[in-house]
Amino acid sequence: MNFNALTPELIVAFEAIVGPAHVLTAQRAEATATADAYADYGRDHTEDLHFAPDVVLRPADADEISRIMRLCHEHRIPVTPRGAGTGLSGGALPLHHGVVLSTERLNKIIQIDERNLQATVEPGVVNEAFQNAVKEVGLFYPPDPASKGSCFLGGNLAHSSGGPKAVKYGTTRDYVLNLQVVLPTGEIIWTAANTLKNSTGYNLTQLMVGSEGTLGIITKVVFRLLPFPQHNILMLVPFRQVAQAAEAVSAVFRAGIIPSGMEFMEREAIAWSSDYLKIPLTLPEDIQAHLLIELDGQDLDQLYKEAEQVYGVLEHYDVGEILLADTAGQKDDLWKIRRNIGNSVRYNSVYKEEDTVVPRAELPTLLKGVKEIGARYGFKTVCYGHAGDGNLHVNIIRGDLDDEMWNVGLRQPISEIFELCVKLGGTISGEHGIGLVQKGYIGIALKEANLNLMRGIKGVFDPNGILNPGKIF
Ligand code: LAC
Ligand code: ZN
Repeated sequence: MNFNALTPELIVAFEAIVGPAHVLTAQRAEATATADAYADYGRDHTEDLHFAPDVVLRPADADEISRIMRLCHEHRIPVTPRGAGTGLSGGALPLHHGVVLSTERLNKIIQIDERNLQATVEPGVVNEAFQNAVKEVGLFYPPDPASKGSCFLGGNLAHSSGGPKAVKYGTTRDYVLNLQVVLPTGEIIWTAANTLKNSTGYNLTQLMVGSEGTLGIITKVVFRLLPFPQHNILMLVPFRQVAQAAEAVSAVFRAGIIPSGMEFMEREAIAWSSDYLKIPLTLPEDIQAHLLIELDGQDLDQLYKEAEQVYGVLEHYDVGEILLADTAGQKDDLWKIRRNIGNSVRYNSVYKEEDTVVPRAELPTLLKGVKEIGARYGFKTVCYGHAGDGNLHVNIIRGDLDDEMWNVGLRQPISEIFELCVKLGGTISGEHGIGLVQKGYIGIALKEANLNLMRGIKGVFDPNGILNPGKIF
């Protein structure tokens, strides 16, 4: 990649666009005792990686971003767009340094259109803040990544993030109608229309979603919304055998139930998280895994009937005492434990998180294969995830693995895990994206012909290759 270094003239030009207060450099951070905050722009939640930006820009709107992109395109300066930095594939890391373009000031909910069940927002809005705002008027935005309290909608779009509700409601991409995008060359476009159907040309909206900030910078989003489901039932089901927990997942769907959450947690995942949060949880010695199952809808009687059906399915498995959460507080605690598994693993050890995904009924085979591979290569995994989606988060624990094994030796077993996913009809990322850390494995999931198409598309959008370089492929 042929990039140029930043010059003092460019810094002055950036200041003229966004204002000096929104141009951050290491030197200025040092002078204002904000070096730690500045360094954070070079990190995300992926392992312990850090790449230093040459400059961080915090533009206010699409127009400023357009002017920045024109300059960077002309001068061949790499630009890495960044949301809240909660990503798990290194997608927001400035691998080639240059500009980190933070969307933190594009944080407005522009309109909630109750007549059309739509909302227009900027990419720097926190997922949960958006969910809460639409809930106030009885509406529902379902995608709910574990980091919903801090992640930005823009980052969710970059990876088509999922979360527990995806099993019933789909991922971020299923809610996007239209996007305003600044192209790497500085042009500003809208990708589609604010309609529920659209048969007008190639689907640029869905091309942008999941493109991990490599094709353009999203500056406005029109989402479709649903009526908020008034009721839910939450149950925590303990299993004495891990394999049975995985098998019960597809059995629930085969019985005709679509839960609004179907999460798998192996023993250590739930134990580490409840310890980390200091939320006490009874965990009998013989319990190896749990399913957290949520049902939601508008009719509570109907939900109880569905719950009975779920109990009927579970009778065929060796389960312990099922906990039916009966207060809002208890439900909150269970979801908090589930959502903080990633944080608790990070608290316990450096780790690599693989975002494996297979057709739902292949989950038991995947899980067994992951454990076999781990045993063969001598590493420990803590597994959990969105079992209803066949989406298993495999956390490889660093423990006392040496540098050689951690940085090089693990490539072979990780490849074997991904090859198993593909063999089972799955792929190497369900919701975290490829970013930087899965880039070396993409050839396991995609043929050269697919990658060539993607390279061609990248070249059309970004002829100088300046936008989020070094990611995906
Ligand atoms: C979760 C994140 C890691 O499901 O995707 O907790
Ligand atoms: Zn997840």
